[in-house]
Amino acid sequence: MPTNFLAIPDFSRDELESLFELAERMRDGTYDKKPLAGKSLAMIFMKASTRTRVSFEVGTYQLGGHALFLSPRDVQLGRGEPIADTARVLSRYVDGIMIRTFAHHDIEELAKYSDVPVINGLTDMLHPCQILADLLTVRQHLGDVTKQKYAWIGDGNNMANSWINAAYRFGFDLTIACPQGYEPADHLLERAQKVAKVRIVRDPMEAVAGATVVNTDVWASMGQEQEQKDRERAFAGYTVSPALMKRADKDAIFLHCLPAHRGEEVLDEVIEGPQSKVWDEAENRLHIQKAIMAVLIGGETL
Ligand code: CP
Ligand code: NVA
Repeated sequence: MPTNFLAIPDFSRDELESLFELAERMRDGTYDKKPLAGKSLAMIFMKASTRTRVSFEVGTYQLGGHALFLSPRDVQLGRGEPIADTARVLSRYVDGIMIRTFAHHDIEELAKYSDVPVINGLTDMLHPCQILADLLTVRQHLGDVTKQKYAWIGDGNNMANSWINAAYRFGFDLTIACPQGYEPADHLLERAQKVAKVRIVRDPMEAVAGATVVNTDVWASMGQEQEQKDRERAFAGYTVSPALMKRADKDAIFLHCLPAHRGEEVLDEVIEGPQSKVWDEAENRLHIQKAIMAVLIGGETL
């Protein structure tokens, strides 16, 4: 069992399957233990959040624990206190730390100096809790995650990188359609391509052909707001439209981590349409993160 959850490959494939089963017991109400009773989670948010903040806070409460919301305006980290010092101090008070930040190096530094488990709530490089919630949604609507064909349309960002890590762990087919210059991280791609069919293509139509899961995300992620106009030009033609969905498998589902920019990466007809499972996907953040916390912080076994 890993100590921290910074990236999907921190867990083995068997551990991830067990984590999904635990999250499903939490979702259907058959899990009623309070493994976080008497325990606290520090939640550091260097970027905005709706889903991550609320699901971690509510999830901690539902497992019997207490969560502290720490924004850079409230804690000394925002005034330049080193991350290593923050890690060592928080470890003396709390039982786990969840962090959303910019540089992936910062979460690695935090984990290095922390004596308590660290959970990745998004970095510029990865968003692993989200992809586990997405896979839980795939299980809910389509079944076995290893049997699906996944299409990623748009930016090679933290979401795309985490999909690549999931393909590496589960060995499934993943096709990423992105414009030149917006590719995902080379080192993650190369590792995954050794064990799974992971391809980069330019044409979204090619990526979705026969796909059972179609997934996209905003064109400008948090921290890239000043690139919005350039990115709108670069990503023209990468909108998930009804025509694109028609090219996918007839039972394909559409996923989006949210927040969505309707009219940019996805059209209203798709995100509000019958193939869209984005609300289940958002709900599943709660269940999978409770499972992760129960195991890493609460001593639950898989
Ligand atoms: N999907 C996601 O992480 O949403 P938030 O930015 O609202 O947390
Ligand atoms: N790629 C997006 C995901 C938001 C949940 C971002 O980093 O802003």
